[in-house]
Amino acid sequence: MKRLDLYKSCVGMLEQAEVEDAEFDALCIFQDMLGDKLPLFCPQEEVPAEAEQRILSLVSERCSGRPLQYLLGQWEFFGYPFCVGEGVLIPRPATETLVENVIEICRREGMTHPHIIDLCSGSGCIAIALKKELPGAEVTALELSEKAFGYLEKNIALNGAEVRAELCSVTDPETASRFRDMDIIVTNPPYLTPEEMASLQREVRHEPEQALAGGSDGLDFYRIIASLWRDTLREGGWLCCEYGDGQHEDVKKILLENSYGNITLCRDLAGIMRTASAQKTGG
Ligand SMILES: C[S@@+](CC[C@H](N)C(=O)[O-])C[C@H]1O[C@@H](n2cnc3c(N)ncnc32)[C@H](O)[C@@H]1O
Repeated sequence: MKRLDLYKSCVGMLEQAEVEDAEFDALCIFQDMLGDKLPLFCPQEEVPAEAEQRILSLVSERCSGRPLQYLLGQWEFFGYPFCVGEGVLIPRPATETLVENVIEICRREGMTHPHIIDLCSGSGCIAIALKKELPGAEVTALELSEKAFGYLEKNIALNGAEVRAELCSVTDPETASRFRDMDIIVTNPPYLTPEEMASLQREVRHEPEQALAGGSDGLDFYRIIASLWRDTLREGGWLCCEYGDGQHEDVKKILLENSYGNITLCRDLAGIMRTASAQKTGG
């Protein structure tokens, strides 16, 4: 079949399956399978039979709700490539705001060799992007899920980033007790409520529950991290976190209750309250 004809029929299949952005998804699958950034530049070119079969098979998986990023096996975050698949959270554009917050704090405070720890690291997108942008930083990434940890290690190698990764639980006091004098704790922990978990979009249901569920009110990890990890920060160090839509007041309250000061809340590029930076001040 010719490229354009196949493309149109794939878009039709995706639209019928109510895939949100059918044209974008079809284009990404074409780019990946044909190894061509502009696959429709020669619309009348014949697609080899084997490639056509592979494209149709991916499109039909996509129609069943499997996320595009898992089908492609790689996704970009902060301009860097990340391997993704079942068992690891897909890096979201909103999380780039959190990375920007940390870079901004380091630049503003002239920290050229900051000690940074990324809690709940998943694919490692935050830790790795920070190490690439702040080469003098010493970055550690902690993750509990073995499957996610496999991706974290793969992504460290893929990006040639010197990030130290550990498979452990951030809710374990023994883990926290091994770290001291950190300049920055950064975290995008699980933060969905049971109600949100019950009404997830079809694609998100393919992502690991352990990466999403944040306890009865979605805030368990903020309470634990704000208190348990406070002692790991040096005086004047920063805790930077991402949270869900509508959680900003609750997260701010948790930070205040744990004696953090200079709290700044930020919106992501979609205009949604998304991140907090808070400083460990005396007390
Ligand atoms: C919302 S995802 C964030 C992943 C990644 N930081 C990102 O921004 O894409 C939360 C991650 O926390 C991990 N996690 C859940 N409980 C944990 C725990 N007790 N200790 C360490 N990591 C945990 C999950 O496996 C998941 O990878």
